[in-house]
Amino acid sequence: MSDKPQRYASWTAGKLPLPELMEMKRRGEKIVMVTAYDAPSGRLADAAGVDLILVGDSSGMVVHGRESTVAVSLDEIVFMTQWVTRGAKRPLVVADMPFGSYEASNEQAVANAVRLVKDGGADAVKLERGGTSIERARAIVDAGIAVMGHVGLTPQTATVLGGFKAQGRTADRAQQLVDDALALQDAGCFAVVLEAVPAPVALAVTKALAVPTIGIGAGGDTDGQVLVWHDMLGYYEGHSPRFVKRYADLGDAIVEALGRYAEEVRSGAFPEEQHTYAMPDDERAAFEKTKT
Ligand code: KIV
Repeated sequence: MSDKPQRYASWTAGKLPLPELMEMKRRGEKIVMVTAYDAPSGRLADAAGVDLILVGDSSGMVVHGRESTVAVSLDEIVFMTQWVTRGAKRPLVVADMPFGSYEASNEQAVANAVRLVKDGGADAVKLERGGTSIERARAIVDAGIAVMGHVGLTPQTATVLGGFKAQGRTADRAQQLVDDALALQDAGCFAVVLEAVPAPVALAVTKALAVPTIGIGAGGDTDGQVLVWHDMLGYYEGHSPRFVKRYADLGDAIVEALGRYAEEVRSGAFPEEQHTYAMPDDERAAFEKTKT
């Protein structure tokens, strides 16, 4: 018997199958997605039972302290995807295609998506906008890579959109959003993120699409939700959009813990006996004798 089936079985063991997302939509089961940027966050997201992890270019802001996501490089996303996939086994890991990695041509988009899958270990990639991104998404899907779309507020092009603000708030812009989402689905996207759009528009897109919608600031009617790790865990000092819900205050917990550590180092209360290594008495005596 060939060893191939077994190898394949262990390679995919435990991984959420991509088609299951469509089934979840069909069953009305919500899809849970969160961002992660390193092995511990990937492992913790997996342990919490999330379905999808996004290695988002939000890293540029929440991890690297930049003002926007624009400067994030492909190398950064490749490295972070490697780290996350070492920690996360069951969730599907989606790697963001950063600004400048797919706009120029289909060839550029495919080559960089291949890199995220081959070098990063991503299960899928995500790109922003309708327009030319629809053609890029189709080219990447044709190359055999799963693609997630992203419409509404697309942070990579926030300047053109007039800033980080809600999109699709007029009838025309709302219709454009529905059309873009449908076009991304037609291009082969397996899901579409809807960011900062009015709830009725998100509902219309969700009803129009056969593939799942994943909302962030898009109300409760999308097929799933995504939040940024640092925002939801209270681990980011910058501006958090109104749609963020804080599920923990890790920033405060860390400052408190570091404060106690500093106090104990300064007072000599740390380290204690249990934090130090002992030496056999005879070796210690010999050392005491020989030391200069
Ligand atoms: O980069 C990111 O984290 C994202 C989410 C906000 C959807 O694109």
